Amino acid sequence: MKNDVKSVLLSEEQIAKKVAELGAKISEDYKDKNLMLVSVLKGSIIFMADLMRSITIPCTVDFMSVSSYGGGVKTSGVVKIIKDLDIPLEGHDLLLVEDILDSGLTLSYLREILQQRGPRSIKIATLLDKPERRQVSIQPDYVCFTVPDEFVVGYGLDYSERYRNLPFVGILDPKVYSGE
Ligand code: IMP
Ligand code: MG
Repeated sequence: MKNDVKSVLLSEEQIAKKVAELGAKISEDYKDKNLMLVSVLKGSIIFMADLMRSITIPCTVDFMSVSSYGGGVKTSGVVKIIKDLDIPLEGHDLLLVEDILDSGLTLSYLREILQQRGPRSIKIATLLDKPERRQVSIQPDYVCFTVPDEFVVGYGLDYSERYRNLPFVGILDPKVYSGE
């Protein structure tokens, strides 16, 4: 599995340090609010698991699953809700927890439909930001790392559902997907 990774972009230690810092910042920023963490499955599960444990204020946690069609490297822009939230959003200060903000299409769609359900506020926390690839105007409120325009895997991020279990973030060797 590690042979498919061209280079390690972010080590376990680098990630752990940033996520802990972010958790402390969110705990401070939301101390007088009603924090609800919403994670978009599946890429953000590991980030969510680490981030929620570094948050020291009361919060609720929920998951939803939005899928872009197809399992390859490119986002189609068309998304469908596979699993919706269980908890009503009214009165909550929502923090969307994402693995990576790439074209921004997924999150801008999601933010719009969640906004219509009347939460008190919505913000975005992303582990990785790839601003060079943005197709819509959307800015994350919290970012752990800004990354170059390369396809990355690990720490939850996949290529065709694989490599999520790598403990670091690595650049996928293009040989893995060049046959596509
Ligand atoms: P966006 O809609 O283009 O912003 O990206 C949505 C989803 O595409 C992310 O949540 C990821 O699941 C996936 N994605 C985008 N870039 C990468 C990458 O470099 N590696 C793995 N998944 C990615
Ligand atoms: Mg994915």
